[in-house]
Amino acid sequence: MKRFLSVNDIGPLDKAVAEALEIKRDRFAYQHLGRNRTLMMIFFNSSLRTRLSTQKAAMNLGMNVIVLDVNQGAWKLETERGVIMDGDKAEHLLEAIPVMGCYCDLIGVRSFAGLKDKAEDYEERIIEQFIKYSGRPVFSMEAATCHPLQAFADLITIEEYKTKERPKVVMTWAPHPRALPQAVPNSFAEWMNAAGYDFVITHPHGYELDPKFTGNARIEYDQDKALAGADFVYAKNWSAYADPNYGKILSTDRSWTVDTAKMALTDNAYFMHCLPVRRNMIVTDDVIESPRSIVIPEAANREISAQTVIKRMLEAL
Ligand code: CP
Repeated sequence: MKRFLSVNDIGPLDKAVAEALEIKRDRFAYQHLGRNRTLMMIFFNSSLRTRLSTQKAAMNLGMNVIVLDVNQGAWKLETERGVIMDGDKAEHLLEAIPVMGCYCDLIGVRSFAGLKDKAEDYEERIIEQFIKYSGRPVFSMEAATCHPLQAFADLITIEEYKTKERPKVVMTWAPHPRALPQAVPNSFAEWMNAAGYDFVITHPHGYELDPKFTGNARIEYDQDKALAGADFVYAKNWSAYADPNYGKILSTDRSWTVDTAKMALTDNAYFMHCLPVRRNMIVTDDVIESPRSIVIPEAANREISAQTVIKRMLEAL
């Protein structure tokens, strides 16, 4: 595997999940693959889970790891070509990327959407430049439009907890005080569709996601109807995708917060969220602390999804 940006880069999902679960049973079995190899993790944005789980995954595989927080201690980077660099940005990404590539074998990049220019975000300009100019295999640690390591971990978690061959999985929008990217819901939607689950998306009017990701998922604007009979509830906030409101908050309606009454509509569903989560905005304390909340095992599987992807990249070097 030379790149990992979306579900399209992983091949058959049943094979990927089987490989992930095999790694989970013995996560140190492939240490020889990473010996004398270096992973560089580049963060343009903050992270807790991705940073720790991906580093742990690489260490499980015997790799050395370099972590660079671009906004702390590195030169400020210009990303646009053609700019006269007479401001505070001392280095251009077009030199910085190949230089970073000199010091490692694999690169992981985290770079969020700016939520101002939809074309720029949906062209994935930052991570595509890493693919073009680094000379190294590149994987997404959440880019502008997708968070595939999260969705892969979500899939592994559902496969571990499901009691039906084809569970009903409901992704519900929930309120949040700040405008968030669509990367997590985009990826969750494309991975759930690819898995072939009974997949429903519920959100207020105006929060329709890019159809490229939602595909044939059922869209239900009535949250209560959507939640009826659900086996898994995946809560997430996102900002508007559709023009002219791209990147905007259209609603902070707290009646969409996932609470005990909402969960009572389901078939004793498991509660999921990628974390970090704003309690009592997205989900109430009692739901996230309930025995049906699987947010911690879900986060733990981030190590396994990352390790599966890095293993495949090492095998292809
Ligand atoms: N879910 C997730 O990617 O968490 P972090 O932003 O903390 O890495």
